Amino acid sequence: MYVLSNFVKVTVPNYLAGLPIPDSFGGWFRLTVRDWIALIPPTVVVGGVSYYAYRSIKRGRVGGRINPMIRLDEKKVVDFVEIEDIGEKMYLCRCWKSKKWPLCDGAHGPHNRATGDNTGPVVIRRSKPAEK
Ligand code: FES
Repeated sequence: MYVLSNFVKVTVPNYLAGLPIPDSFGGWFRLTVRDWIALIPPTVVVGGVSYYAYRSIKRGRVGGRINPMIRLDEKKVVDFVEIEDIGEKMYLCRCWKSKKWPLCDGAHGPHNRATGDNTGPVVIRRSKPAEK
């Protein structure tokens, strides 16, 4: 724990204090090539964090839409499935990525791999499988 604490309280502040960030707008024009090179690593880190935060928000993991494409012109997407149409099993999509909505077409798999999500379908079945 000491290593982490020292890193956050001493190493990072010392590193940031040593960056050649000018005090005025005109100071940016007086930076040397060496100064600009020193600013590349923190710029890459800030840019990377910002990009992943933006991607997360855009994909709806943090706020935003859940439904990216299904009947967007409707105020609310509601589907009815007649019980006679279920057969033995029916897989209903919960990830909102299926092109066969409201049925699952397996699109949750690529979505889960791309986002780290763990969504999957609701399986409706007529009877519970026999226990082994
Ligand atoms: S495609 Fe959406 S849960 Fe399978």
